[in-house]
Amino acid sequence: MKHTHIIGLGGYLPEQILHNKDLPAALETSDAWIRERTGIEQRHIAAEGQFTSDLATAAAKQALEDAGLTIDDIDAIIVATTTPDMVFPSTASIVQFKLGATSIPAWDIQAVCSGFVYGLAQVDGMMRGGMFERVLLIGAERMSHILDWSDRSTCVLFGDGAGAVVLEYRDDGTEHGVIGSTLHADGAYRDLLMANHAQRNQVIPGFGGQNAPDLRLDSAGVAAVEMRGNEVFRTAVKQLGAVVDEVLELHGLTHNDLDHLIPHQANLRIIQATAKKLKMSLDHVAVTVNKHANTSAASVPLAMHALYQQNAFKAGDLLLLEAFGAGFVWGANLVRWSKQ
Ligand code: UT7
Repeated sequence: MKHTHIIGLGGYLPEQILHNKDLPAALETSDAWIRERTGIEQRHIAAEGQFTSDLATAAAKQALEDAGLTIDDIDAIIVATTTPDMVFPSTASIVQFKLGATSIPAWDIQAVCSGFVYGLAQVDGMMRGGMFERVLLIGAERMSHILDWSDRSTCVLFGDGAGAVVLEYRDDGTEHGVIGSTLHADGAYRDLLMANHAQRNQVIPGFGGQNAPDLRLDSAGVAAVEMRGNEVFRTAVKQLGAVVDEVLELHGLTHNDLDHLIPHQANLRIIQATAKKLKMSLDHVAVTVNKHANTSAASVPLAMHALYQQNAFKAGDLLLLEAFGAGFVWGANLVRWSKQ
């Protein structure tokens, strides 16, 4: 039977590394606080003039090379990002151009930190429907560009990077490949984590929470991440715990069947909580949050790529990918590894 297989992986992190200790003194934060509360030690920061499409293109080239293919073998390009180069055209269109492709469809997915998990579910569904045979799926972010670098409660948490996979729909004589996905969203939490790019004093109707139906933006007219971290943390732990159970149960599997957890890399404490729920030791969990911080849609493919580079996966291994982000949106994918 045909399944969606991961046949190539790539990852790209910008050269510049910003360690906790090198954060501006004016932030009044500390390496100890950041490590203890998040597990983050450092993050990569894109160079001036280096856009999300550049990070995405670099990761995509690696994934194609790893698959032994060229862009001419690809039927579609999807970029999951919340930091597109521009409002439009899509970052995927720009990546298509930079990769030298013409005519194949290209579009973005905006599901913030869950973008890659949503994207994998979408591609798998489209492949099962017979639309494509080979797709390039990329998660790429330049979060550094939308951070308020004077807000210590958010700016220390994020980093830049891109991860990419080549997906192929084929029958390899096994039951390996993407098994299935579960996706959720709850817009009631829309104002707990957001980045606006509206003008000063602009009013966004219906975005002020239950007691204030409209949100009046009084910050500068630039995009900046705002978060009520503690509430996001609690909901993330709860919903990720539920979604991992849900996706396993849906496919008649249990936590005992899992070989690897590939979680979204927002906070080591959230990762540990999900691992504990699954009764998995951290040896079987991809952890890159210490080196990458939270790269939003790039976090899951970058974490998977890191383990892949360590030869951690063998054919038949069961991987559980999960993510949670602004919206809130969250989800999980089950993948039986098939790449040799
Ligand atoms: O990817 C999308 C999903 N995102 C997430 O999942 C992030 C979820 N949230 C978190 O990871 C955590 O809530 C944070 C890491 C953001 C914050 O950790 P926390 O343990 O929830 O801390 P808190 O927000 O309750 O703040 C505790 C204290 C506050 O001071 P007071 O009010 O107790 O005096 C903050 O002002 O820590 C202070 N604080 C800091 N101190 C030093 C907040 N940020 C910093 C900082 N350095 N960078």
